[in-house]
Amino acid sequence: MEFRQRNEWNKRLIDTMPKGSSTASKAPKYLPEEPEVILRGRGCRVWDDKAHEFIDFRNALGPVTLGYCYPEVDQAITAQLKNGIIFGHPSSIECEVSEKLCEVIPCAEQARFLKTGGEACAAVIRIARAYTGRGHIIQIGYNGWLNSLAMGSRVLPNQVSGVQIPGVPSEISELYHAVKWNDIEGIRTLFDMYTNDIAAVIVAADYGEFEQGKVFYPFLRDITTANDAILIFDEIVTGFRVALGGVQEYFGVKPDLCVFAKGIANGMPLSVYAGKREIMQTCEKPGFSISSTYGGETLSLAACRAVIKIYKKLDVIGHIRTNGEYLWSKVNEIFNYNNIPIRLKGIPQCPVFTLTSESDKGVLDRFFRAAYANGVSLYNVSYVNLSHNLTDCDDAIQLISQAVKDL
Ligand SMILES: Cc1ncc(COP(=O)(O)O)c(C=O)c1O
Repeated sequence: MEFRQRNEWNKRLIDTMPKGSSTASKAPKYLPEEPEVILRGRGCRVWDDKAHEFIDFRNALGPVTLGYCYPEVDQAITAQLKNGIIFGHPSSIECEVSEKLCEVIPCAEQARFLKTGGEACAAVIRIARAYTGRGHIIQIGYNGWLNSLAMGSRVLPNQVSGVQIPGVPSEISELYHAVKWNDIEGIRTLFDMYTNDIAAVIVAADYGEFEQGKVFYPFLRDITTANDAILIFDEIVTGFRVALGGVQEYFGVKPDLCVFAKGIANGMPLSVYAGKREIMQTCEKPGFSISSTYGGETLSLAACRAVIKIYKKLDVIGHIRTNGEYLWSKVNEIFNYNNIPIRLKGIPQCPVFTLTSESDKGVLDRFFRAAYANGVSLYNVSYVNLSHNLTDCDDAIQLISQAVKDL
């Protein structure tokens, strides 16, 4: 591929907005190889402003599970657009999609909508506090910027805060406890220290060590039940990806509350918080409030209804698992063959690029850069979507193989 020339977009973005992107993790790190801006996407490919084509495994950082411009979803959005985007009353589609989600999410007896994942996590944390009358929250993984409040919590999916988070008073931080995935002893210690004060444990899976969930989730279920605390699954990445009903379906462990977002509407902005009726009914308590004007916006709900239909008609999970397994195992073979200390770890639907040795910490950055230069867009967690067929995977394998040779 020719050397990519910088143009004006990145300069203008940095000038007009902090970080040069509304989403921290989307700000380009690998210019000039990485695209500065994307102009369009279709299926599993995206094109930048200079018409460079990339096979895309970022999928908008998770939401695009079917592919860009997936016809049935786009048709559902267009059809709804003709009837209005949002109203001053509940809409019939709001009712229908809530009912459908309660059918597919194991713990969901009631469900309600918001727009972003972090906002929905904030909602379930508030419900748990109001329901239990307690204040402390144990967090495992990233639950959105709104909820990155503990010292040492994840301020981004792959970034841990080392200090008091700027803008968060220490009095608030003291109520939040960030614990690492599968740290069973750490969680036991917190329940001992704050007996009768822990409102909830909220957990997002570690995708690289996903199968540890077989023991960790039942442990969390038992310890929260024994301490009358609420168990919340953040299924923002795992829902509609590891299984339609997320980790609760995959591991057969029911939380009390959960949040789904990315993946439920193929990129349209929709999040859902759901759970046991008795606990969700906290929303009806006098003085309690979770409310947003845009909660029942119908275009996203139309997309979600179409997505659920497609998941029921086609084996989307099977496709992304099988093609993911094929692609990522070949990529690992390429790393192995070329003695590159990088491996993809974890479940094929959302594997994580990891270093196998500390001897060359820059190799991952150089690899991502080389992948962009060869027309493949990757992220530290990379996703196959329904539109990546075997030919696309073979194309990507060839391009990645070239990228590794270029290293
Ligand atoms: C597990 C998890 N929870 C919460 C969030 C936050 O969702 P949003 O960015 O929609 O607020 C993310 C986003 O990356 C996530 O990966």
